[in-house]
Formats: sequence, structure tokens, C-alpha cells
Amino acid sequence: MRTLVRLKQLALEVPCSMWRDGCCWNFSLRRLQSNMSMLKHLTSKITATGPISVAEYMREALTNPVSGYYVKNDMLGVDGDFITSPEISQIFGELLGVWCVSEWMAAGKSSVLQLVELGPGRGSLTSDILRVFSQLKAVLGKVDLSVHLVEISPKLSQVQADCLTTDQTQAFDGDDVPVYRSGTTNTGLPVYWYRQIEDVPRGFSIFIAHEFIDALPIHKFQEGEKRHHVEVCPEGGVIVQKLSNRIAEDGGAALIADYGHDGTKTDTFRGFKGHQLHNVLEAPGTADLTADVDFSYLRKMTEDHVTCLGPITQQSFLKNMGIDTRLQILLRSCPDSSSRAQLMHGYDILMNPEKMGHRFHFFSVLSRSRLAAIKATLLPVAGFTELRLH
Ligand SMILES: C[S@@+](CC[C@H](N)C(=O)[O-])C[C@H]1O[C@@H](n2cnc3c(N)ncnc32)[C@H](O)[C@@H]1O
Repeated sequence: MRTLVRLKQLALEVPCSMWRDGCCWNFSLRRLQSNMSMLKHLTSKITATGPISVAEYMREALTNPVSGYYVKNDMLGVDGDFITSPEISQIFGELLGVWCVSEWMAAGKSSVLQLVELGPGRGSLTSDILRVFSQLKAVLGKVDLSVHLVEISPKLSQVQADCLTTDQTQAFDGDDVPVYRSGTTNTGLPVYWYRQIEDVPRGFSIFIAHEFIDALPIHKFQEGEKRHHVEVCPEGGVIVQKLSNRIAEDGGAALIADYGHDGTKTDTFRGFKGHQLHNVLEAPGTADLTADVDFSYLRKMTEDHVTCLGPITQQSFLKNMGIDTRLQILLRSCPDSSSRAQLMHGYDILMNPEKMGHRFHFFSVLSRSRLAAIKATLLPVAGFTELRLH
């Protein structure tokens, strides 16, 4: 790991003058009508205690409990600020569903299976995974299956409940209750919502984190007087450590998919609003803030008792999972040319190296015993090697 001892933390000096100056203030007001409380909160914080770090700025802008971007908005989809793979094509979630079943089988078909998604957005990914679980009911047999969602946003948890459950979900009051919402899917599976991973019950779990770690606060460091910057996401590291410990002790696996690199990129902090790049300092709380995930850092944060695979590109992972075969099956059952065109368009966005194919990467954390099984039985980990369909 690059040493940070001599690095100086870059404080992000949100220029207060920007917000005191008449012109800028008017400009901000026009653009920020929807989140004045965030602007006031940040301005008074900086005025009272001085500059805040990039990480603190990011945390406030995204997850401040009153006016944070994620807490207040449903930002996903064509009408929102950005679109993610599960929202683009059902094939994405279906292939991840196959991955979950494949890893559950390879790990010895535990009698309990918890599907845990971190930052589930609109709930589409879990919904597509659960459809595969229903289709593979015969394979899953009598497994005790439950769904656990780690979501900080009350607004998005409601969207997820609308997507995943048929009954009225029950919401529980108070910041200290571990489960703040629960419900049942149309196939009778229990679904629980938590604010943090520690609250998810122990037991064999498959963890999925898609575009979750890129939303966690990063620190930016500058090496000496040079303009060489380093970005570090300690919260992402801590979460991966917790996943690793649980996988080592309880069994299971984690699949992390995100924009990312293997320790090769710097200065990736950016904003998105209305599907366009957005100045990170403009209109805080009204735009998504994100930074590429450094998978080499996540790997270093796992303990010796787990094995990491990847990162590999989304294009390779989905190809290995059999996306081409699945596409052909769906195309054959498509009733009209416009649905076929839509399927092909989704495939292109997911797979094209210029689009998501090479920008997104897959990374997996597995128990050491799984690695031993790979060596002993040559049972590959789906997605990271070619899937043999026989
Ligand atoms: C970029 S969205 C990705 C949504 C979804 N995984 C997808 O790919 O469509 C990030 C998700 O993580 C949630 N989130 C962000 N920070 C979080 C935190 N600290 N704890 C729990 N959830 C968080 C957001 O509310 C949102 O659901």
C-alpha cells in the first residue's frame, strides 16, 4: 500500500465567499431552490469550524439525514440523474441470480441462504435475482431463503418495498431499531431493511454490492508539494473487512461490481446530474457524487482467511456468465421488433467497451475453503472463468 504518512490531507475549502457574494448567491439560489437547507447547513458548518474534508463534504451532500441527496431523492433511471446496469436490462440481474445459486451450490448447499444487497437503489437487481431463484426452485430445494437490504435512504427503501413486496410493509420507528422495515415478497420470502451491515443477522450469506462503494465518502490526499493525488475510501475498506470476516466465519460469498480500477487511477471524484457530469461543488445535495473504486485497496483490506477474485471487466464477467445465450433466448421469445431493439440496445450499453463494458468491474470475496474446492474439484467460480453449460 502506498504510504500515506507523508501525505497531507487536502481539505476541501468550499469557498464561503461563493455563497456570500451577491452574484454567486443569486446563481446558486436559482439552481438550488430544491436544496437550500443543505447549502445553509454546509455554509454554517464551514463558517463555524473552518474547512471540511472532501469525505465530510461527500457524506453531508449524499447522506445527511435531513437533506442528503440519497435520503431525499429517487435519482435512478432516464428521468433521474444516472442509470445503472440493473435498470438497463433484466439480463444483468438474472445473470447475477445465476451467480448466487452457483456459489451457494459450490459452497455445499447450506440449509440457510441470506441474499444481502448493499445499497439496492430501486430494488430492480434483487427483484431480477429473486425471479431466477423462483425459476431454480427445484435446485434450491428446501433452503431457508430470506432477503436483507442495507439501505440508508428512507425514500429509496419505500421504492424498494413497492418493487419487491406485495403486502403493506411494516415500518418501525426509531434510529436505534436494527430492522427499520420488513415485508414479504409475492413468493412468500421475508424481506428486511437495515441501515448498516452489522445489523444483518449472521448466517450463510451471498452479499451483492452494485454501485454501492463508489457512493461512499473518499478522502483525497496530496503527496508532498507535487500535484499527485491519492483517493482513499476507508468506509469501503471497513465494509469489505466486515464482509470478509463474516464470509470466513459463516460461509458465503460477496460480489462487488462498480466503476473502478486496480490502484492505477487518481482524481476520479466527480458529480452527475441529469446524466451529465456536474461540478462537485455546485448545488450540493442535488447531484450524485462518486469516485472510482480502488479494488487493490479493497483486496488489501480483506483478511488472509478469504480469497479475492478480480477485478475483471463487466464485459468479461457477463460473457463468462452466458449473456449471449440468455440474449438469444430472450430475443426468440420477443413478440415485436421494438422489444428486440430494446434488448439489443441494453446489451450494447452493458457490454460495449466504450460504454459500461470496460468501465465497470467485478470483484469477488470467497471463503478459503471455496478456493480449496476449486483446486480439488476444478469447480470454477462462475463469471471469473468461462461457464461450462453442460
Ligand atoms: C448509486 S446507488 C446504486 C443503486 C443500485 N445498487 C443500482 O445499481 O441500481 C447507491 C445506493 O446506495 C445507497 N447508499 C448510499 N450510501 C449508503 C450508506 N452509507 N449506507 C447504506 N446505503 C447507502 C443509496 O441510497 C442507493 O440505494
